Amino acid sequence: MAIRKIELLGAPVLRRRAAEVEAAGEEIRALVQDLWDTMYDAPGVGLAAPQIGVSLRVLVADVRQTDPEAAPGVALVNPRVVEASEETSREVEGCLSIPGLEEVVERPARVVIEGTDVEGRPLRLEAGGMFARALQHEIDHLDGILFLDRLSPLKRKMLVKKWKKAKTRPAATPPA
Ligand code: NI
Repeated sequence: MAIRKIELLGAPVLRRRAAEVEAAGEEIRALVQDLWDTMYDAPGVGLAAPQIGVSLRVLVADVRQTDPEAAPGVALVNPRVVEASEETSREVEGCLSIPGLEEVVERPARVVIEGTDVEGRPLRLEAGGMFARALQHEIDHLDGILFLDRLSPLKRKMLVKKWKKAKTRPAATPPA
């Protein structure tokens, strides 16, 4: 159990296609625990293994902070979207790997996802609302895709410029 360093935009691991998990076991259980610890500490509503530097297809998501009615948090191994609604939704999204940036992203409103749980048992879940959005965002991470890639090239360019500028600005007070 540990809070891990979150990789930021520019880290090559965020752009790689993560590898399938071959077998459940202690390594994956420990990874999932670190993902939970790091996500809740941040705090965030989802986190994918590449964001803590591990290029494996594992993610966690829990959107109850933003949607109290949402389903409880879930850890998924080798998840994939098997169905996506034609209906889309447009909501503001951010990413723990690009702190401070937010933008409206259009995604399918509802998805069906299959994968396994941390013990390797098959899992199929239907999601809507923020939960569907977070799961799609995290699955994108497993394919090296960031929410910026879902925007128009112009908007993406503007946002990355803004992010780089903010990042290089010296902090007003040194971190304690
Ligand atoms: Ni993200």
